[in-house]
Amino acid sequence: TKTIKVGLLGLGTVGTGVYKLIGRRSEEMQQKTGAALEIKKILVHNMKKVRQGVDQNLLTDQWKEIIEDDEIQIVIEVMGGIEPAKTMITEALKAGKNVVSANKDLIAEYGKELYDAAKEGSADFLFEAAVAGGIPIIRPLKQCLEGNQIDEIMGIVNGTTNYILTKMFEDGMDFTEALAKATELGYAEADPTADVEGLDAGRKVAIMATSAFHSQVKFSDVYTEGITKITAADVNYAKEMGNVIKLIGIARNTSNGIEAGVYPMMIDKKHPLATVRDSFNAVFVHGDAVGDTMFYGRGAGELPTASAVVGDVMDVTRNIVWNCTGRIGWSAYKELPIKEFAD
Ligand code: NDP
Ligand code: HSE
Repeated sequence: TKTIKVGLLGLGTVGTGVYKLIGRRSEEMQQKTGAALEIKKILVHNMKKVRQGVDQNLLTDQWKEIIEDDEIQIVIEVMGGIEPAKTMITEALKAGKNVVSANKDLIAEYGKELYDAAKEGSADFLFEAAVAGGIPIIRPLKQCLEGNQIDEIMGIVNGTTNYILTKMFEDGMDFTEALAKATELGYAEADPTADVEGLDAGRKVAIMATSAFHSQVKFSDVYTEGITKITAADVNYAKEMGNVIKLIGIARNTSNGIEAGVYPMMIDKKHPLATVRDSFNAVFVHGDAVGDTMFYGRGAGELPTASAVVGDVMDVTRNIVWNCTGRIGWSAYKELPIKEFAD
């Protein structure tokens, strides 16, 4: 059987999940895709950190050992941040290595450049895990719902803030304590400001809007407002009214252009989005042919996110086996105007 070598960039929450899942499912993955996967090297920052259950010989702190290794055909980027991830992914793609990434910060701003690099290397570039963790949403938007004109995407796309709001509403926990717990559970970003200020959700809205409307929407086009100003008094007031507060991301393709934003919304506790608790996410998509659809599941955390990454890796593996990588390119072929967000 063919063995495909993989380089893993990052072994934090998501990287550890990916390492475990590839180990746990290796036989099935081989049967399903037609090739065995071997993690050849893992890039980390701190070589001294103890990493239980991981073969220490695989670790390196030299990224070129992965990107310049001719044997490695798939690079999984689960480090986060813009640089050095952007340089690493660009060089890998241009060299014909296929890349799977969970890095929404990077994709929301430089998605087009990364697709250009993938085109140059005839490589696959997939990022299902970048939006809503384990929930399949990018592939549905780009492929399964392709027959539709999609006019609205709306939902909860940040697990950390949804966890914090759930704890504030249901357990009377204060904001700081709930954020600390979300960080401990592996939901929060390296800098949780991105979560609580709505930036992470804004990046996900930009990626979903670009995928659904076929016109580039960058993070800077998305209005963002977070949950840091929500007080215990707001929570009590919302409760008295029979409501909950949720951080909602919305993108609409209107006749005047695209509008996109993230902000905390008071919603009736009987509304379907009110029942989305803890780190769960939910996304509603409306298409002209399909009507309303809803995607629901775990939006953050080790194994839910690894589930999306590994699905992409298996897709890439199959494409390598069938010699057809680089099929799915940049699909934002329109240039629709961006209009000011009005909730
Ligand atoms: P972590 O902070 O837990 O892990 C990051 C990993 O990358 C660590 O292993 C770290 O090394 C390594 N790393 C970071 N910078 C460098 C560098 N410059 N050189 C070498 N190694 C580096 O992050 P997560 O696993 O939580 O997130 C990873 C990515 O996945 C991010 O883009 C995030 O936005 C995204 N994501 C995260 C989700 C989650 O639930 N956590 C869900 C969906 C997406 P070391 O271990 O030595 O510190
Ligand atoms: N910090 C992110 C969240 C991780 O809480 O949703 C998943 O993208």
